[in-house]
Formats: sequence, C-alpha cells, structure tokens
Amino acid sequence: MPDKIQRIKGTNDILPGETEKWQALERVIQTVMMRSAYSEIRTPIFEKTELFARGVGEDTDIVSKEMYSFEDKGGTSITLRPELTAPVVRSYIQNNLQQIAPTTKVWYHGPLFRQERPQKGRYRQFYQFGAETIGSPFPETDVETIGLYWEILTELGISDAVVLKINSVGDEASRETYRQVLREFLRPNLGEMSETSQRRFETNPLRILDSKDPGDKAMTDHAPKLVDYLNESSERHYKSVLELLSSLEIPYEQDDRLVRGLDYYTHTAFEFTSDVLGAQDAVCGGGRYDGLIEELGGGKVPAIGWASGTERLLLVMEALEKSQSLTGLDCYLAIPGDEQRPTATTLIREWRRAGLSCDTDLQRRSLKAQMREANRQNARFVVILGESERKNGSVQLKSMETGAQSEMSIAAALKMMLGQA
Ligand code: HAM
Repeated sequence: MPDKIQRIKGTNDILPGETEKWQALERVIQTVMMRSAYSEIRTPIFEKTELFARGVGEDTDIVSKEMYSFEDKGGTSITLRPELTAPVVRSYIQNNLQQIAPTTKVWYHGPLFRQERPQKGRYRQFYQFGAETIGSPFPETDVETIGLYWEILTELGISDAVVLKINSVGDEASRETYRQVLREFLRPNLGEMSETSQRRFETNPLRILDSKDPGDKAMTDHAPKLVDYLNESSERHYKSVLELLSSLEIPYEQDDRLVRGLDYYTHTAFEFTSDVLGAQDAVCGGGRYDGLIEELGGGKVPAIGWASGTERLLLVMEALEKSQSLTGLDCYLAIPGDEQRPTATTLIREWRRAGLSCDTDLQRRSLKAQMREANRQNARFVVILGESERKNGSVQLKSMETGAQSEMSIAAALKMMLGQA
C-alpha cells in the first residue's frame, strides 16, 4: 500500500462542522465592516520578497527567520505573504487609491504564512482578518479603527474576555530621543544580554523591550519608559486617543513595554489579549504606521490598522463555550413515519425558501435517532410531523432551548421559527 500523505506541519484542515463557524464569523465581520463603511480588498497570496524586507523590516523575526521565500523560474525572489499591511499599502500605491477618496478604509480576510514553531494558536499557515484606515493623521481615526475590532468582539459576545493593551511609540523624533536614553541605560549590562538583543542594541533597541529572554526581561524591568520621552505632539495624540476610547467606554490598559514586532509602527500601538489563550495570548495586534507608505514609494500618507488571528479568535470563542452559538440549524424536521415523507419534502422546501436553515432525516431512522441528530446539529427548533398532525394540518413544535413543546398550525410554527410570533 502506498504511504498516506499527511498535511504539512503547522497547517490545518478546516472541516465540515468547523467551516460553519468560520462562515458565521465571516458574516459578523462583514456586517460590522459594512456598517462602518470599510470595503473588502483582496491582494495576491505571494508578493516580491523586497516588499516585506522593506515594509516589515529586515531585522524583524518575520523577515529574518519566518518567511517562505523562493526564487521563481524567472529568478525573482517571491514570498508567501507573512502579513497583509505591506501588501495593502503596495496595492494602495500601485492603484492610486488616494485619488478615489481622501480616506481609504479597507478590510481583508485570508491566509498568511510564517515558518514559526507550531503550537496551540500558532501555525505556519494561519488566517487573519484585519482593517486598514489610510489617509488620516487624527486621533479619532485611531479610535474608529480600534473601535471596529471592539464592535466585532461585542457582536460575538466576547468583549469581556479580551483586554486592550495600548501604548504610544511616538513619532520618529520621540523614538530617536528615547533610543539614546535606552542605549545609555542598557550599555553597562550589554555583555550579559541575549545575542539577539545585543544585535538589536545597535539596529533597533526598542525591540529589546519585547524580548522573551528572561535575562533580558529582568534587565529591562526598570528601563526608562518611552511614554516619558514623547514630544509634545506625540503626547497630545496619545492623550486624545485614550480620551476618545474612554468616551466610547472601550476599556484599555496602558502597557508601556508594548512595542510590537514589526518595524513600521508610529504613535499608537496596541494588542488585544485574552488569558484563555495560554502562551500565544494576542488575538489581535495593530497600530499606526505613518511612515510606511512613503517607505514603499508612495506619498507622505498616515495610516492605522490591525489584524486578528482567525484561529485564535475561534479558540477564544471555544474556550468561552460561545462557538456553538455561531452555528446551528433553525429547524430540524423530524418524521416519525414514512407516510409523512412526501408532505415533509414540500414543507422543508417552503421553510428553506422562507430563509430558515432546515434539515431532515434522509436515512429513514427512528424518531429517537432523529432527535439525537437534531441535537448534534444544534437545532433551535424541532418540528415533528406526526400522522395525526399531518391529517389536520398541524405540527408539534419543540423549542430546543426551553424544551417547551406544543401543537400548532404549520403557518403558526413557521412564524414562530422566523421570530415573528
Ligand atoms: P501581528 O501581530 O504579526 O501583526 O499579527 C496579528 C495577529 O495575527 C496576532 O495577534 C495573532 O492573533 C495572529 N497571528 C500571528 N502569527 C500567527 C501564527 N503563526 N499563527 C496564528 N495566528 C497568528 C500583523 O500582522 C500586522 N500586519 C497587523 C497590523 C495591521 N498592523 C497594522 N495593520
């Protein structure tokens, strides 16, 4: 027998039963995005390697260790996209989107690739949905963008289980001042720091604050804080963002060590984390990137965005036992005897046309087995079409939520299931 071929480590099959949850989540995302006037953008799965090297930064973990890059037959270095902000910006510049409107508001959902060590919530192919708001430097834009994710969490009923951590990394001038201060603070112990941090001491000392190495962490515990070195305009921006978040009653925690692992951030940087996730606790990350568009050959255009790991968000839903609420039938039509099947065939078509998701038994099984199936499919209602009911044009309607069951006309049952009764 030939060997069975296995899927590649760190990738997942999303199977029936799961796909329904993904689709339901996508519907929530689409609805919230539409309400806030964000349009979907779909960019290619692969891009020139240079886009990420320049956009995300040569010295980041993503670019230096995790990219799936290869040369195509024409000798061009190509990379399976490890993130979507640089591709969106590339597309914004290439397609002159700034000519259409002064603010470009786009969202996306798609697969990304990073060669990381797989573990719970960390995969080599994973999905992100995200949003980018391009073209406005004002703090209300930060809050519009962050608030968008908050709306999705609220719509899913999980905002209580997620914490917004926020920081400001200031503008370039503030960061330059702080880099000097931080280097002076770290210099005496430089020799004891991890190899990566020693390298970053020169290239990007801010990233040392993000180091997972316990020795580095201890050394930076009492490091000066970036927020204390913000210049006046950076400080004003940050303060306004926090005030606007409070006015929307979006709770946040200030985290003055939060610097994020990608190089393009300026001013606002944030993460949404959840302790139900374990080690990989970030369900969403983002921030302002006022220099990226220029860096990639466009104009001086400010922007802000975020991206959320789809699998991680679904893990949060699972842990909170909320994922069941994403799926489920409106109605399972149970048929106790074969004589009712012709009536059932017509009824179920009528209900599906009315917009209900309905299923019925195609195995001619016992009523008990059909009730089990209705449970398995998480049906909100079971309709039982018994012989006597069929004769007088009525059905038994059982609410699976309350367990209440009563006989009623077919029309009344339909109204009830549609929530119109
Ligand atoms: P990021 O922090 O690299 O940011 O990723 C955002 C989110 O993607 C993470 O918080 C996590 O939920 C998910 N994620 C990242 N890596 C993995 C993985 N290996 N497996 C599963 N999930 C993962 C960015 O990608 C930025 N482009 C976000 C952004 C948009 N900033 C501005 N606009």
